[in-house]
Amino acid sequence: MPVLARIGERFASERPLAGVEVGMCLHVTAETANLARALVAGGATVALCAANPLSTQDDVAAALVAHHGIEVHAVHGETLDRYAGHVAALVAREPRVTLDDGADLITLLHEARPELVDRMIGATEETTTGLVRLRAMAADGRLRCPVIAVNEARTERAFNDRYGTGQSTLDGIVRATNVLLAGATVVVVGYGWTGKGVAQRAHGLGAGVIVCEVDPVRALEARMEGFEVLPALTAAERGDIFITVTGATSVLRREHFEVMKDGAILANAGHFDVEIDLADLEAIADGRRDVRPLVEEFEVGGRRLNLLARGRVVNLAAADGHPAAVMDLSFATQALAVEDLVRAEHDLAPGVHPFPAALDREVARLKLDALGVRIDALTPDQAAYRTSWVPAPHEDA
Ligand SMILES: NC(=O)c1ccc[n+]([C@@H]2O[C@H](COP(=O)([O-])OP(=O)(O)OC[C@H]3O[C@@H](n4cnc5c(N)ncnc54)[C@H](O)[C@@H]3O)[C@@H](O)[C@H]2O)c1
Repeated sequence: MPVLARIGERFASERPLAGVEVGMCLHVTAETANLARALVAGGATVALCAANPLSTQDDVAAALVAHHGIEVHAVHGETLDRYAGHVAALVAREPRVTLDDGADLITLLHEARPELVDRMIGATEETTTGLVRLRAMAADGRLRCPVIAVNEARTERAFNDRYGTGQSTLDGIVRATNVLLAGATVVVVGYGWTGKGVAQRAHGLGAGVIVCEVDPVRALEARMEGFEVLPALTAAERGDIFITVTGATSVLRREHFEVMKDGAILANAGHFDVEIDLADLEAIADGRRDVRPLVEEFEVGGRRLNLLARGRVVNLAAADGHPAAVMDLSFATQALAVEDLVRAEHDLAPGVHPFPAALDREVARLKLDALGVRIDALTPDQAAYRTSWVPAPHEDA
């Protein structure tokens, strides 16, 4: 993770986070460990808990505690109660900056210890679903601190969601099932940044891709990209592999399960385990058995439907999540967002704020530099032309 490493080196010499208590509620992976270490290099005291009960890499958690003095509250496969207890343990540390992937820590702080939120410097949010919640809190007048929408940084959306989730979602499905994607029909429900990545990668591996959408613009984009676009109920009869990535609830439910083919595989890459309606599936199933680790087979009207990872994020539950090269960009963005919050302490009003465009360019510049890629710069004339209303001398009318 060369970009984060460079930021960590600068942090070590400038110590911009000296004395700041930071609480991180992120997937406990090797990449997150590097972010935690960069923040510690900047002078912060850091504690970490998981953003999902299934996403913790236990060896990483142990190494952070044993070798880096970072408190970690997470264990792979923890119960929901234990998970909640771990988020509460971070609240008890009274963080002044929080980093979330799904808003669990910042919302618990608001609910349980609102007086702590008032003395917070700010927060960052890594994922779409978290931002939906935080914007809803802001609209209700309930959000009491500034939050930087790291998820909406250009370097985050374009790379993390499209390439990171796209590849790792298919990686999780293949690792869990060993299914051949070439020739299969993959139904992607939701064609946002993540859905686009999943659809592109499935197509690249030789699958026929059907997209289901509710937004006409996104549906049109999918169609013009060359994908078949169908209502989910029609697609349900055709698909071999279903991947939900909408951020919405029950996008695959009883009516869809009832018409799916024998052997269909159901996976979710959306943040919460609500996109595939498990209660509906269990209600209509005549039987259930474990066929492989993370693969449950439900018998529905004589057909077998295979649910992966109980409908939890498949790229984290069944694979390693996003590759380090893409998390390098995301976590460089996180590190710079934390620095920006601390340097601007008390300048930002409560609410959801965009990641500063100049920092976005800096992350991309550092990454290009690490890749040894050089690019052009605007000439002074070009720069002036782009911001002027005066036509250039050689411009045709
Ligand atoms: N697994 C991961 O590592 C990972 C990474 C990034 C984002 N996410 C999560 O994936 C989800 C989607 O994120 P995004 O950034 O692509 O969001 P997005 O809002 O850009 O896209 C979601 C799309 O789903 C569509 N949609 C909503 N309800 C639908 C329905 N019932 N049927 C069909 N389409 C529907 C929306 O119109 C939208 O185009 C979120 O929950 C996000 O938190 C997961």
